Amino acid sequence: MTKKIRCLISAGPTREWIDPVRFVSNPSTGKMGYALAEEAVARGFEVDLVSGPVSLSAPPGARVHHVVTAAEMEKKMKELFEKAHLVIMAAAVCDHRPKRQWREKLKKDDFPKDFEWVKNNDIVQGLSAARKNGQKIIGFAAETTNSMAHAVEKLASKGLDWIALNEVSREGSGFASDFNDVTLLSRAGETIALGRDTKKKTARKILERVWP
Ligand code: C5P
Repeated sequence: MTKKIRCLISAGPTREWIDPVRFVSNPSTGKMGYALAEEAVARGFEVDLVSGPVSLSAPPGARVHHVVTAAEMEKKMKELFEKAHLVIMAAAVCDHRPKRQWREKLKKDDFPKDFEWVKNNDIVQGLSAARKNGQKIIGFAAETTNSMAHAVEKLASKGLDWIALNEVSREGSGFASDFNDVTLLSRAGETIALGRDTKKKTARKILERVWP
């Protein structure tokens, strides 16, 4: 029997705590990452899905690992990375966390007027720096302006094989929508517009390209 392809996917937002009842996050719903996990299962892959807080049910057949913060996501991704053949980083990781996390709920009047921020590690960049031969790593770029230039820069700086660029400012696609409009860019210089489609079909098109 041939060995199953192991696919590691991240999805959803992360939450960065201010105090026990407040956090900073973003509007990611996890739909794109969950659709990718479903499609990867349908293709016969063994799937680990590392998921930030979302309200979607687990894709049947995938192992779901729930995390909350970027640091937790990084730890889980690192743990599962070694055995993965294909990694798809679809999570909307918060780039920063508040420098201070209060252990007790801040009173309204004590709420700081300014916050100091600390940069979270770039998870996918760390994984690609540690990769072994044959592992493929795909990232996402959710952009609003100068999209192509930003995606090309991220493809290179994060050491990815492919980046899936989606315009999040466009009406009817991107965050929270059931649709997406993705352009795939490869390290080898290919540019492939997948066209506006459901996230499910977009997921299938992405997998067909990145793991033919
Ligand atoms: O830099 P930006 O957040 O736009 O990059 C997007 C890509 O990088 C996504 O694949 C995202 O999951 C990944 N990322 C990451 N760790 C971070 C921030 C983003 O892996 N701290």
